[in-house]
Amino acid sequence: MSNKKVVLITGIGGQDGSLLAELLLERGYDVHGIIRRASNFNTQRIDHIFNKITLHYGDLTDMGNITSIIANVKPDEIYNLAAMSHVRVSFEMENYTFQTNTMGILNILQAVRTLGLSEKTKIYQASTSEMYGNTTDGSKMLTERSEMNPVSPYGISKLAAHHICNYYRDAYNMFVVSSVLLNHEGERRGLTFVTQKIAQYVGKYSHGKIGKPLQLGNLNAKRDWGYAKDYVWGIYLMMQYDKPDNYLLATGEEHSVREFVELAFNEIGISIEWRGSGEDERGYNKLTGDLLVEVNPKYYRPIDIEHLIGDASKAHKVLGWHPKTSFKTLVHLMVANAITN
Ligand code: NAP
Ligand code: GDD
Repeated sequence: MSNKKVVLITGIGGQDGSLLAELLLERGYDVHGIIRRASNFNTQRIDHIFNKITLHYGDLTDMGNITSIIANVKPDEIYNLAAMSHVRVSFEMENYTFQTNTMGILNILQAVRTLGLSEKTKIYQASTSEMYGNTTDGSKMLTERSEMNPVSPYGISKLAAHHICNYYRDAYNMFVVSSVLLNHEGERRGLTFVTQKIAQYVGKYSHGKIGKPLQLGNLNAKRDWGYAKDYVWGIYLMMQYDKPDNYLLATGEEHSVREFVELAFNEIGISIEWRGSGEDERGYNKLTGDLLVEVNPKYYRPIDIEHLIGDASKAHKVLGWHPKTSFKTLVHLMVANAITN
């Protein structure tokens, strides 16, 4: 029998799941992951490690399927990274968002408990700063203890999941960690999240692929944007600590969507000049006057969060975790990747 630790990652084909799979392979784990059946290949982010991992078809909403995968794999650690993770889409897919994000983790916890694996299997849940809602104007750093008033189906579904995790840890003495992650991005970020949307546009523009101007929604929103690789390392540290607890990971800086646009275009030597306001605001190439960015209300949300900024002191103190990548470097890495790929 192998001495390797066995891990099961849900959402292994996503941004964080694929990064975590690499990290755990490097650390000698036997890595299993759950992917969904799709009519096209959905393993682009894990193709380079395809032969080193074991994939299982599954869906978090399918209790029987999840239970049988856990029964077969008998993991030492489960990282639940699968989610309907797009906030704006959650307004259009409320029911499915709850089925996946809330019932999904409950299915995992129930399976582990009823299979008699409670003492063996540690469980990680990816919670989110969307759980806070509009509780700060940016002058106050969010912590693990801040008030939570989510304003999106996504945020509400994740807050319910967070409470379920706390309840399982307290009631059944299980090793369950639920950590609040502020926004984290990188080369593998999904194409419909704002940072990647901007980086990809700038990448194409640099190759002369000039179509219509970049269409964005709320330019004023501010986020605490970190680098996904740093966050996945933090997630791993939480699961190796001797007792389970909840931690918040953040950089402690917030920047607006407008600032991200400016820095991204700066990477290809373009300065942006903003003119107009609200729906009429536009971003021009300061030198040539070319129109590069337009506001399109199609990308507005029924309610948006204007500020998200977090204080990761607890993770610094207990786990020794620090984000290593600055905002400027993050933008550089994403644009450079978009230019070359
Ligand atoms: P992501 O790139 O969207 O990946 C999510 C993964 O979940 C995808 O592989 C997706 O599969 C899979 N998935 C979706 N619904 C599923 C279902 N019903 N059953 C099984 N798999 C399903 O997300 P991410 O950025 O890596 O985020 C990882 C986790 O952290 C998520 O839970 C997210 O909510 C949470 N989080 C992320 C951030 C962030 O800034 N990135 C911040 C806070 C919390 P397909 O590839 O087939 O779509
Ligand atoms: N997606 C998107 N597209 N967002 C836009 C756009 C646009 O064209 N224009 C402006 N925004 C604004 C959104 O209104 C939001 O205020 C901000 O940019 C960030 O949007 P996203 O990149 O979609 O991320 P998010 O903050 O809503 O959600 C991400 O972070 C959460 C943690 O706070 C996701 O990764 C969630 O899964 C995660 O939990």
